[in-house]
Amino acid sequence: MKSTIILCVFLFLEYVQCSNPNVLCIIKNCAKQSAECIADEGCRSAMMCITGCATNNQTCLFDCIYSYEDDVFDAFMKCASTDHQCITNDPPNPPVVCHPPQKVESSFTIDQLNGSWYIVKGLNPLYDCFDCQITTFSPRLDSKTVFDVFEKFDVKTVKGGVRHRSVNETVAQVSGGIFNYTSMMMGQNTHAQWRIVHVGTGKAFLLAYYCGSISANYFYEGAVVYSRAPTLTTNQLVELVDTFKDLGWDYSKYCTPNTLKCSI
Ligand SMILES: *[C@@H]1O[C@H](CO)[C@@H](O)[C@H](O)[C@H]1NC(C)=O
Ligand SMILES: *[C@@H]1O[C@H](CO)[C@@H](O)[C@H](O)[C@H]1NC(C)=O
Ligand SMILES: *[C@@H]1O[C@H](CO)[C@@H](O)[C@H](O)[C@H]1NC(C)=O
Ligand SMILES: *[C@@H]1O[C@H](CO)[C@@H](O)[C@H](O)[C@H]1NC(C)=O
Repeated sequence: MKSTIILCVFLFLEYVQCSNPNVLCIIKNCAKQSAECIADEGCRSAMMCITGCATNNQTCLFDCIYSYEDDVFDAFMKCASTDHQCITNDPPNPPVVCHPPQKVESSFTIDQLNGSWYIVKGLNPLYDCFDCQITTFSPRLDSKTVFDVFEKFDVKTVKGGVRHRSVNETVAQVSGGIFNYTSMMMGQNTHAQWRIVHVGTGKAFLLAYYCGSISANYFYEGAVVYSRAPTLTTNQLVELVDTFKDLGWDYSKYCTPNTLKCSI
């Protein structure tokens, strides 16, 4: 997202002239969504917040979106970006290149995801480190191989409060231990491939890696530890650290989200 374009849209809609072709594209195709955005406090705040971010500061961009995003913002972004390409999503610079691990738990099947999991460790600060991240998988009535995913998480907003957020995704098994997640987030279609890298003793926790994309040149990656309980036991932590060693991964890079006193 180019903050200059968004600022321009706002100036334009407030009748200041702006000749950017992308603005004309928005006016032509998304006039209704733009007007609704300006009339909506959350959408307007998100846009104003984004215009204050330096180019390429993804932390700032995501902080703004998570703090203010609502249905009106998502509808505007879907129209302007996904449906009409008036706004391009600038990929992170330098671009993210995914490094999927070789290891996969190839006997792991989708039904073993069923139910709720806490995210007790996370790698990507933009996506994996929120407090009270609880992911619930439930089988679809019409399909044994596709599950609905409901992800709850708490966001610390730019103004200092906490916002409860959720995202719906669907997950399909590609092969043992490998899954496709798809969703519409922030008005963008996202696809991610997840792999279960380690199944903890008693299937009480999972180490999972993912590589996702929102366009042909925009990738993101991360990894999480899903746990059935809000925290890992000492024995589980020892097992996890050993697993990281075997994989050659740096355990110290992982955040430990707060998972206590969360409503499930
Ligand atoms: C990016 O934005 C965040 C949050 O607004 C800020 O704390 C950080 O200093 C910015 N980073 C750079 C490199 O400008
Ligand atoms: C999935 O888990 C729910 C509880 O979260 C349970 O009621 C249901 O029977 C489970 N379904 C399968 C297919 O394991
Ligand atoms: C998201 O999932 C929840 C829980 O399964 C459901 O109640 C809600 O209607 C879903 N929302 C959308 C937009 O599909
Ligand atoms: C998983 O995603 C890939 C890439 O988008 C696609 O080619 C493949 O058909 C998908 N597989 C399933 C089972 O959904």
